[in-house]
Amino acid sequence: MARKKTEKEGENAVDKESNSETFDAELKDRIVDLEDIPHVGAAIAEKLRSSGFSTIEAVAVASPAELSSAAEIGESTAARIIAAARKMADIGGFESGEKILERRRKIGKITTGSKALDELLGGGVETQSITELFGEFGSGKTQICHQLSVNVQLPKDLGGLEGSVIVIDTENTFRPERIIQMAEAKSLDPEEVLRNIYVAQAYNSNHQMLLVDNAKELANKIRREGGKPVRLIVVDSLMSHFRAEYVGRGTLADRQQKLNRHLHDLMRLGELFNAAIVVTNQVQAKPDTFFGDPTKPVGGHIVAHTATFRIYLRKSKGELRVARLIDSPHLPESEAVFKVTERGIEDK
Ligand SMILES: Nc1ncnc2c1ncn2[C@@H]1O[C@H](COP(=O)(O)OP(=O)(O)OP(=O)(O)O)[C@@H](O)[C@H]1O
Ligand SMILES: [Mg+2]
Repeated sequence: MARKKTEKEGENAVDKESNSETFDAELKDRIVDLEDIPHVGAAIAEKLRSSGFSTIEAVAVASPAELSSAAEIGESTAARIIAAARKMADIGGFESGEKILERRRKIGKITTGSKALDELLGGGVETQSITELFGEFGSGKTQICHQLSVNVQLPKDLGGLEGSVIVIDTENTFRPERIIQMAEAKSLDPEEVLRNIYVAQAYNSNHQMLLVDNAKELANKIRREGGKPVRLIVVDSLMSHFRAEYVGRGTLADRQQKLNRHLHDLMRLGELFNAAIVVTNQVQAKPDTFFGDPTKPVGGHIVAHTATFRIYLRKSKGELRVARLIDSPHLPESEAVFKVTERGIEDK
């Protein structure tokens, strides 16, 4: 059921068009290539990239010894490069509240395809935030990711952001055929839609983390070449590799530390490009838990604290699915019913 906009929302509604332009102008100042760091020429940049230092942030937090061996340069040059990268990446810098407010004004929202689900999220999936979809197998996590990958491309008045999407697929569940179905249901050109979806398979958790760096480079490249700006980054599933690789209690702290870094990298990317971050997390349904006590997602507290929106999905009759918003800082905990059909995500 659609909710009427209150006056307050009308007042606060941002002019997406003009704001995304200023955001892009600001990005030009903030996004830099390795070659922009003083003392880094093409040869050094190449060596750094091939050793895994693909972003200015990676250089900024490296040690002089690491960088020196990676780029085959002296430690004092390495130290100078690191100092310059730190300045440029603003590592450990503070931002004024005013600046944060300014950035938050540019937040965009992507429709899920269901008004009820959008309403639950306060208007759709937000940019500059992490939205975690968790639930048991078949609850619709991957379907929502596919639908958002189509919807983010829609014009703004239809609930999109005229953007492109990067998908990090860890379980090999991305299906172009499904995208075609969903695009056709919205009378979009399926080929065009597929062209704006960039998919990478992650082979293990380290690779998954590395792909976030690659996503940043790709998003930069897309904007340099004038493509649709990346407004959505999907990780489906966030936890499968971490869960498989880190078994046993002894490795849990290690896993959480890596996961924490991964989520912060994603969050940073979301802020930098004004993109929505959507991650999925499979949980086993526990029939014995009483109503109102959703299953604890794998990933534990770190995921819970970093995700800005956490949606618990469960299966209902046939095509129907129930979504519940879990501990959001500024939205009430409530539920929405939607359905998954051949056309995609729809209201019931
Ligand atoms: N083409 C389609 N037409 C109609 N319904 C579909 C179609 N494709 C998928 N579905 C529905 O979506 C369900 C699968 O959901 P989805 O793949 O999103 O689950 P998931 O939450 O990602 O599960 P997992 O944890 O296993 O990854 C199917 O069981 C079916 O109900
Ligand atoms: Mg899935």
